[in-house]
Amino acid sequence: MRPWSTLLAAGLAASGAHATPVEAARRATPTVYLAGDSTMAKTGNGLMGWGEYLPNYITLPVVNKAISGRSARSYTNEGRFAEIESLVRTDDIVVIEFGHNDGGSPNSANDNGRSDCPGTADEICYSGKTGEIVYTFNHYVEAAARSYIAKGARVIISSQTPNNMWEGGTYNNAPSRFVGYAATAAKNVGAGASFVDHFQAVGAMFLRLGNAATNGLYPQDHTHTSPEGADLVAQAFVQAVSLDFNGTTPLKEYLKTPVPQVF
Ligand SMILES: *[C@@H]1O[C@H](CO)[C@@H](O)[C@H](O)[C@H]1NC(C)=O
Repeated sequence: MRPWSTLLAAGLAASGAHATPVEAARRATPTVYLAGDSTMAKTGNGLMGWGEYLPNYITLPVVNKAISGRSARSYTNEGRFAEIESLVRTDDIVVIEFGHNDGGSPNSANDNGRSDCPGTADEICYSGKTGEIVYTFNHYVEAAARSYIAKGARVIISSQTPNNMWEGGTYNNAPSRFVGYAATAAKNVGAGASFVDHFQAVGAMFLRLGNAATNGLYPQDHTHTSPEGADLVAQAFVQAVSLDFNGTTPLKEYLKTPVPQVF
């Protein structure tokens, strides 16, 4: 343990002349937790999620809690957001990124346990399979974000990664509806939450990479990238953070330099 005065001095030095007492007292090395799906998770068999590459570009330890096949709803119902809540401490940073598994209709008799209730507020649906109450993407994500902020952590709500934007040879960067939902979630949560449009950051990178190079990053389907693709998707996230794209996030001060320039 370093004495308090040393911590304070280090905090002041790191945060510059305009440091407030609150900033000065930040933990020197907060932990970054990642909550998401397969596109962020440690996967394998020729595929990988981008969360595994984030540690290459930031100075903080990363705990990647992303897991394949999850939506904001199933991540909630399986207690995975709650597990992170039990782990976070003051000043930690939690990145929440869902959307790939959140579509579909929970009202269906074949409800897959992942589809959120349509809408962005307090709408509710009933599972056509189990009868359980199903909430919106915003309900689940905002509840998780608020639980972390209540413990003194900071939250980055990141929009989902795009699918292959050059599928079929034509560039298409039209966002899924969950991109806008993620932006709305950060706005609704307010202080302590910020938003990164990871979707459009990766989209800008894919525009620059072009058709052949982008298609080369998707060896199996249009959603999951190769390890090389995951590394690039992580770099696009980090570059977006460095550019305040879309707003300043708490990760900005922990970027390694030089910051990747992929878009
Ligand atoms: C985020 O910022 C980028 C760059 O300015 C912009 O292209 C994009 O539309 C923004 N995303 C949202 C959801 O506002």
